Amino acid sequence: MQKRTQKRKILFTFVLTAVLALSFSVSFTASAREWDLTIPSLKEVFADYFPIGNILEPAEAFEGKTAEMFTYHYNFVTAENAMKPSYIARTPHDWDFSFHRLDMYIDWALENDIQVVGHTLVWHSQSAAWLTNDEEGNPLTRAEARVNMERYINTVAGHFAGRIYSWDVVNEALRTSVGSPPITPADEGWWKNMLRTGSESSANEASAWYAAYANGMDEAAGECPSDYIYDAFVFARLADPNAILYYNDFNETGAGKREAMAQMTEEINARWETDPRNTEPGRLLLEGIGMQAHYWTSDLSPVSVELTIMRFAETGAKVSITEIDIPMGRYGAYEDATEENLTLQAKLYRDVFDVFMRHSDSIERVTFWGKADPQSWRKEGSPLLFNANFEAKEAYHSILTLVLGAVPADTQNNTETEVTEQPAVTAPQEDTQDGKESSLPVLWIIIAIAGGAVLIIGGIVLLKKR
Ligand code: G3I
Repeated sequence: MQKRTQKRKILFTFVLTAVLALSFSVSFTASAREWDLTIPSLKEVFADYFPIGNILEPAEAFEGKTAEMFTYHYNFVTAENAMKPSYIARTPHDWDFSFHRLDMYIDWALENDIQVVGHTLVWHSQSAAWLTNDEEGNPLTRAEARVNMERYINTVAGHFAGRIYSWDVVNEALRTSVGSPPITPADEGWWKNMLRTGSESSANEASAWYAAYANGMDEAAGECPSDYIYDAFVFARLADPNAILYYNDFNETGAGKREAMAQMTEEINARWETDPRNTEPGRLLLEGIGMQAHYWTSDLSPVSVELTIMRFAETGAKVSITEIDIPMGRYGAYEDATEENLTLQAKLYRDVFDVFMRHSDSIERVTFWGKADPQSWRKEGSPLLFNANFEAKEAYHSILTLVLGAVPADTQNNTETEVTEQPAVTAPQEDTQDGKESSLPVLWIIIAIAGGAVLIIGGIVLLKKR
């Protein structure tokens, strides 16, 4: 009996040691990842040029430390996923839960002087199948899809009306790669042939909206599948006249895509001028062009970025940098965060921010697509301003020097590298968000669990031997 009690005591001691080891590791990890809020605030540093935004999911707005950091650095917020149709309206009914969550999130933002970007209403990805397809997966007719689109936009943009600063109304309607731009006026309307259709070989690339709008259209009456884009903007304007309406896309600095985005904007706005639903003459319908700015260190050309801002500004629309990140490496081949790569990344961030600042009259906002590297959808390329320990990287310091002066010694030598027009158009990879957390805590937890297991097994073996 006494022996059994002793055995229990020993086992208890081993288990307790393991639990303590685990909690020590977890709290050690947490303390190693504190945001340093004594460094200059990004939104304050760039206050004379443009607001600075970042992504934040609703749950994060209520995580004390993340929220505190967010309000310190940023004055614009975009939900990374939570406001996409697949999240708001998985089914045609019961969207109240999403609205309730998002209402709290938006209230939090507005109470903290953070403007909210609605992302996004109409997209080929992360959409809800019922909007565009029947139960067998076939495209709805144009008329059916249009009814669904109107209902979706009315309900969603209507629900949040007055509280959303701008909506990314249509996202990524153009193909990933667009060839050369047209050179003759006969090519007018060329951008429509550059849209994603329903028949791409990869389902991820196809647009179910385009396919449905092609199904049952009256070509003789001048209808075409691209009308879904115009409809989306009109429905959004009618649902929330205060919101600024954006078209948002990536690979925007390639010559062809840049021109297609600009021509789309011009044609949609020209069509709106004579639309009887337009009650505000002089106000554009497509009022903003979003440059996603998912770049790579291998081929980012600040000259192309500048040409793009200038071409977009020519349309009369506002321009925003909506999702910037600059991973190390090239499309399909991430590179490690070596000292050399960190310095190159810092230089490129500084070069593009230099462009943004020189064109700040045209730029409405600059939003980063991620807070710290391991939280990024492209985490393998360490694309952001803050590292896995939430420490400011060279890139953070390099953009600050544009306003505050004092170029850091380690980036000084790279300022003269020549830049050329961006040659190739490459897609941001459709990476997933799996394993969002840093590998650092995971490692500590594994070590602690392994340590605990060794202690427990050791204890059991010991007890058995006695
Ligand atoms: O929520 C599910 C979860 O339930 C599931 O277990 C897990 C398994 O993979 O997936 C989770 O969903 C992931 C979601 O992010 C939330 O983490 C999806 O797989 C993943 O594909 C999705 O990725 C998002 C991606 O858009 C989808 O295209 C990224 O977070 C998001 O950063 C990214 O954002 C887009 C912009 O909206 C538009 N521009 C490009 C940009 C980058 O792709």
